[in-house]
Amino acid sequence: MFTVKKTVYINDDCKLYYMKTKKIISAILIIYTVIFSACNIQKISIEGEKKDNYNHVVQTAQLQLTQQVKIIKDSGKLLFPWTAYNGQIIYTPETGWTSGFFPGTLIYMYELSGDKKWLDYGVEFSEALDTIKYLTRHHDIGFIINSSFGNVLEHIDNNVYKGVIIQAAKSLSTRYRDVPGIIQSWNANKQWRCPVIIDNMMNLELMFKATVFSGDSSFHKMAVSHADVTLKNHFRKDGSCYHVIDYDMKNGNVLNRHTAQGYAHESAWARGQAWALYGYTICYRFTKDKRYLDQADKIYQFIFTHKNLPTDLIPYWDFDAPQIPNEPRDASSAAIIASALYELTTFGKRDYKKTADKIMLSLSSPAYLAIVGTNGNFLLKHSVGSIPHGREIDTPLNYADYYFLEALIRKVNLEK
Ligand code: GLY
Repeated sequence: MFTVKKTVYINDDCKLYYMKTKKIISAILIIYTVIFSACNIQKISIEGEKKDNYNHVVQTAQLQLTQQVKIIKDSGKLLFPWTAYNGQIIYTPETGWTSGFFPGTLIYMYELSGDKKWLDYGVEFSEALDTIKYLTRHHDIGFIINSSFGNVLEHIDNNVYKGVIIQAAKSLSTRYRDVPGIIQSWNANKQWRCPVIIDNMMNLELMFKATVFSGDSSFHKMAVSHADVTLKNHFRKDGSCYHVIDYDMKNGNVLNRHTAQGYAHESAWARGQAWALYGYTICYRFTKDKRYLDQADKIYQFIFTHKNLPTDLIPYWDFDAPQIPNEPRDASSAAIIASALYELTTFGKRDYKKTADKIMLSLSSPAYLAIVGTNGNFLLKHSVGSIPHGREIDTPLNYADYYFLEALIRKVNLEK
């Protein structure tokens, strides 16, 4: 069983913030609810059928995030909500792979509501991650910096923020290995020599953007090489992918095809499939190389023809989990997939939007969308971090919320 990454990747320096004053907070929430209803929250307008109305999601998001920010401000620190266990909010350290998602979610809240205060919060929380641009000890700098500063730059054209992207890409480049031509995900240890996880496809967006901002094509080239080597080695014939490929740095050969967070080496870990789909969508966006679009489509085919995909399209945490249907769902995978499908729709290969819309209907229903004042102030219930590590099982997760709101923004833009 995989154990080593715990120290690098999961819980180091993690702060637990226990809400002792639950009753007071509940009272505050009720007051907020009344005030916000009375203030006629700015509504997003989605053309089409009435049943497809997502105003309740935007309202829920505003109320949940208002409370989340209030708790943080009251603490006197700048904290980064990650997940919650029975209402206890868990914060990630700045170096944790999920720290950028809360700032990014605040910026998405701005996009959905038009209320500038959310952009200001997004900038404030992003700026608190500035020093992460020098982080070289794992590959997650792409997740952290792109979901925070990358989104700030969508609204504020600022050379300092562009410099953060470029420096972060330089830091990530230190993990590039000419042989086999990939960015190394985790450091070598007893178990791995040069491990690359499928999640790493998501870090390529940072590299592509760094070339756009700097004019230095080396970041783009590294990203393309990583995508190509991953395409060659990470996928099975059926379009599904492995989680971890371990490489020999002398000759570039594959040493092992393993999992760390999935059920088994030969199983299809749901979020891995989601990262792969989204990752090749990013690659197509920046390169227009049809091979990447075709790969995204193969992954789509795998996911949406799978016998174990439930009818509400929210996958189990692993497509091959042994106790299906009695296994936890992973709303985070569904949100990532929906967001990728909306972008793929703009590339016109297939009508992915209908599938994404179905996912969004499920995620926006009471089965997954939290009631205001519950769920540690996160939006979505029922995600899975890592069952093999025994953590975040059937909990909210900051990245589920991030990709959910991102998907909603993309949906709204498509329907304009
Ligand atoms: N990137 C880690 C995960 O998806 O859990």
